[in-house]
Amino acid sequence: MSSRFSSPSDQTLAGIGARLRATTGLDMEAFVPGVVARAVERRLRELGGGDPSTYARRLESDPSELQNLVEEVVVPETWFFREPEAFEALASLVTQLPLAGRRPLRALSLPCSTGEEALSIAMTLLAAGVPPGGVEVDAVDISRRAIEVAERGVYGPRSFRSPSPAATEPYLRSSGSDRIPVEELRQLVRFRPGNLLDPSAFPSGVSYDFVFCRNLLIYLDAPARRQALARLRRVLAPGGSLFVAAAEARLLQREGLGCHTVCGAYLFTDGRGAAHPAPLAEPAPSPPLRSGVAQPPRASAPPLVELDQAMLWADEGRLAAAAEACREHLRQRGPSASAYYLLGLVCDADGRHEQAEEMYRKALYLDPTHRDALV
Ligand SMILES: C[S@@+](CC[C@H](N)C(=O)[O-])C[C@H]1O[C@@H](n2cnc3c(N)ncnc32)[C@H](O)[C@@H]1O
Repeated sequence: MSSRFSSPSDQTLAGIGARLRATTGLDMEAFVPGVVARAVERRLRELGGGDPSTYARRLESDPSELQNLVEEVVVPETWFFREPEAFEALASLVTQLPLAGRRPLRALSLPCSTGEEALSIAMTLLAAGVPPGGVEVDAVDISRRAIEVAERGVYGPRSFRSPSPAATEPYLRSSGSDRIPVEELRQLVRFRPGNLLDPSAFPSGVSYDFVFCRNLLIYLDAPARRQALARLRRVLAPGGSLFVAAAEARLLQREGLGCHTVCGAYLFTDGRGAAHPAPLAEPAPSPPLRSGVAQPPRASAPPLVELDQAMLWADEGRLAAAAEACREHLRQRGPSASAYYLLGLVCDADGRHEQAEEMYRKALYLDPTHRDALV
């Protein structure tokens, strides 16, 4: 990070970024340069002024201000039945379980953000025939603001970007353009703030049949991801399943956790007492990019580089030129999901798969709904 910051005040921002990273595991600056500076600026405005150095010192001794800053950088984007395959897989796994005479099924949604995922899990279990007394869902997120929204439980149209299965309709009632979980559903989900990197986020002695940790691992730096996965694995009940987002399956495999697919969803199943999983389906191939000899970028590049031009070079197999055009576009216009995504494709086509993944992560950070970067 220090290489991206050079002046004394930049050093201060680098220090603040490092503190955020140590707290959350998120290397925000790597995704969007300037995100820390903007977050600090907003906090200083909110606090009525001050300078970054004084603010950095305050963060050292004021956990509630550190939390305020965390709130500024997290991405609480979520919606009901996001990546619907996961809920189809959950329903399919549940119908294979003997439910009579067993303890309640326990699920964990971490990060739960504003609660849509946890409620979708609970609805799926109810719709699959599990009685309300047989379902317990814990829902945890580092963002206290997100947990407050979850506790309020009023969901507008943006929370319904995927179709909800018809069988779950009875569990949400309408109130104008909003929808509200009915009490029977609401009672099954316990929301609380907690940090995936902090052991106290997990109640001791509790294990889960289903853990949903989706759309966070992809943003964590490698040590935090390793730590998070070790922790999540420990709380999986024998035979339990850890669900990740499609874009995160490869990360799991890299950490040695064999990922398999059920109904098109990606999960890791604890081997103790589990059925043999099917092998992981290969991630969807990148859109075709014809291979060819890479050409250096033209010396007289146009003042404004359009992504169409970069795409054209990529299609012609001029990968170095295409990559440079994407970078120039990012320099000129600032971060954009489409530029990072195209740069990812070019890196992939050039055999630089780790760099490609990094670019897809950036695209997803900027646009969590970026479909192409998700597969
Ligand atoms: C994009 S949302 C994902 C929500 C949901 N799992 C989904 O897939 O729709 C990411 C969430 O991760 C939370 N988060 C970030 N760092 C975290 C950490 N270290 N521990 C717990 N939650 C964290 C953020 O507050 C944010 O709500």
